[in-house]
Amino acid sequence: MREKAAQRLRAGELVVFPTETVYGLGGDAASDQAVAAIFAAKNRPHFNPLISHVWAIEAAEDLVVVDDRARRLAKRFWPGPLTLVLPRRKDAPLSLLATAGLDSAAIRVPNHPVALDLLKRACIPVAAPSANPSMSVSPTTAKHVEMGLGDRAPMILDGGPCQVGLESTVLALLDDRPTILRPGGVTREMLEAELGSIALSTESGSEGPRSPGQMALHYAPHLPVRINVEFAFPGEALLGFGPGEADLNLSPSGDLTEAAAHLFSMLRALDHPSFQGIAVRPIPLEGLGLAINDRLGRAAGPRL
Ligand code: TXA
Ligand code: MG
Repeated sequence: MREKAAQRLRAGELVVFPTETVYGLGGDAASDQAVAAIFAAKNRPHFNPLISHVWAIEAAEDLVVVDDRARRLAKRFWPGPLTLVLPRRKDAPLSLLATAGLDSAAIRVPNHPVALDLLKRACIPVAAPSANPSMSVSPTTAKHVEMGLGDRAPMILDGGPCQVGLESTVLALLDDRPTILRPGGVTREMLEAELGSIALSTESGSEGPRSPGQMALHYAPHLPVRINVEFAFPGEALLGFGPGEADLNLSPSGDLTEAAAHLFSMLRALDHPSFQGIAVRPIPLEGLGLAINDRLGRAAGPRL
């Protein structure tokens, strides 16, 4: 199955594969046609660049300029839920569409045995966004992928539920100030322990969006979402955190790792016409809580 999937990737076809964060919709990052097929299947705007997945830092060096900071982080966090945005090499075998014409590229080594095996077999950089239609909640099971992409879903490698459950942290190392473009599975605290102070780009910041994908509304369920509230209104579902009554609870013991792993599947489960909205109890802003609040903030963000 994995050899067949690797062959498909090399032939320019798409494959859905599991990672520790969310399922990815993968294609040959060097192939304009494969990358265009990814954008089409997701209905994703072309200005939003993709992450290229490789099996090890050695493979990343063909694509981007790896400085000491990147090497240090890769040593500590790869394979793992950290994406590094680095200067794109002029001779990088990457479709310009994959990087949306930018002179940087986003690279990650996923920490999942199926993903790593597939990347080693295919031996090409694999561009892969989350395997869901643009603007919807990212898939953390193969079933979510089928439900979201329907007959646009290509071959799916099922690796069970994703352990981390939230997308990777996207960290830009393009100037003197390392900047988190998207909080995720590797926390700001973990990165600061390696590199010292790290900036956090917010989409409303004065410099505007640094990561083209960081639109205010993203990861959105169909129902309206209210966050940081203690109680639900009548008709609303309550998504709990910590002790107390709730329709579903991200983590009754208040554990942020458990909450991250449950977040997307519980939002999906409560996004049901028997409710009129989803109310979410407060979640602390430390550690993985930063990424959880980021996703919830987008789910609750302004509707277009
Ligand atoms: O955990 C993950 O990262 C998953 C799995 C499949 O690896 N992938 C994922 O991909 O979440 P996607 O396409 O949904 O998100 C990629 C993010 C977007 O916010 C995009 O704007 C940003 O990375 N990005 C990609 N290339 C970039 C670049 N050159 N500069 C700035 N941001 C970039
Ligand atoms: Mg996504």
